[in-house]
Amino acid sequence: MYLIIKKFLFLFDPEKAHHIAMFGLRVANTFGLLRLLPQVPKCKSRVLFNITFENPVGLAAGLDKNAEYLNIFSKLGFGFLEVGTITPLPQPGNSKPRSFRLTKEEGIINRFGFNNVGIDKAINNIKSSNFSGILGVNIGKNFSTPIESAAEDYLIGFRKSYLYATYIVINISSPNTKNLRQLQGYDFFEKLISSIKSEQNKLTKYHNKYTPFLVKISPDASDQDLVNICNIALKFKVDGIIATNTTIERDSVTLNPQHKESGGLSGKPLYAKALKTQKYICNRLQNKIPVIGVGGIMSGRDGVERLENGADLIQIYSGLIFKGHNLIHELCKKIQQNKS
Ligand code: FNR
Repeated sequence: MYLIIKKFLFLFDPEKAHHIAMFGLRVANTFGLLRLLPQVPKCKSRVLFNITFENPVGLAAGLDKNAEYLNIFSKLGFGFLEVGTITPLPQPGNSKPRSFRLTKEEGIINRFGFNNVGIDKAINNIKSSNFSGILGVNIGKNFSTPIESAAEDYLIGFRKSYLYATYIVINISSPNTKNLRQLQGYDFFEKLISSIKSEQNKLTKYHNKYTPFLVKISPDASDQDLVNICNIALKFKVDGIIATNTTIERDSVTLNPQHKESGGLSGKPLYAKALKTQKYICNRLQNKIPVIGVGGIMSGRDGVERLENGADLIQIYSGLIFKGHNLIHELCKKIQQNKS
């Protein structure tokens, strides 16, 4: 079925196709059709951050940037959803076109640049949905905020989402916001994590609720940056790491003329690099901090491999575009069979 839908959607540019797909899903949901979808197979549950994940397959950030489709994505069978990236103020993102499909390679290049409605509106969307599942809120800085003041933007997002998120993600790894990845460097990173940690301590006491925070890292980070990230994460007791965001490398897609488009590459061509980064950090963290594996997971086997190599949970984005929601079923089935 998805093969036919995909043939139609792929006639349009990726951003338009996204809007058409979301419109179609909304209509299907209104008529109760999503409830007719087969249930995902049972998957071995895991407890992380004191939260039980009945199903370890999550939706990665970027697909539901403004938390507008929570009830729809949960019906597709995801075990948890991550919305964002959301910035303190609304912003339009980069000019169009800003998303490119590399069909043969099963990859996507995007340079959206955190187009989103801003944290206040996004939180209202979360509040007005009746979604009660596990929800990650991924936060970033506004384009116009200088990198030296980035921590203030993250603190705004952190405070405003604290009560509504099951976990919060500090996104310092998008290649599409100028200088953002500098935050992965030692000095910036230590200052940022130290201020988020002390805010978390304050908010925990104030609200009597602990909301874990994770850091999402880049597959292009140097080994030295990864060592620093792990050391600082251990020092400040960061709750988790998400590995990885998209890559600026194009080595595996040079035959496709679209490879010259700037932005972050995701999907199949990212898999090896994301896995390498994940393995590197899992090796250094020695199970002391949970890791969510993301990047290029396009089959049940890929998902199992990520779990076997240290990930506690996995997320998908591009796989959903190329394979449809059947991929969630395939992942759950293979993970359950594998018992990893
Ligand atoms: C993304 N991704 C992303 N990540 C993030 O932290 N904040 C964001 O706003 C976005 N936006 C976004 C838009 C588009 C079009 C894509 C394809 C991706 C990155 C995403 O969450 C994920 O980390 C990577 O895409 C790698 O996973 P896949 O796509 O290979 O499964």
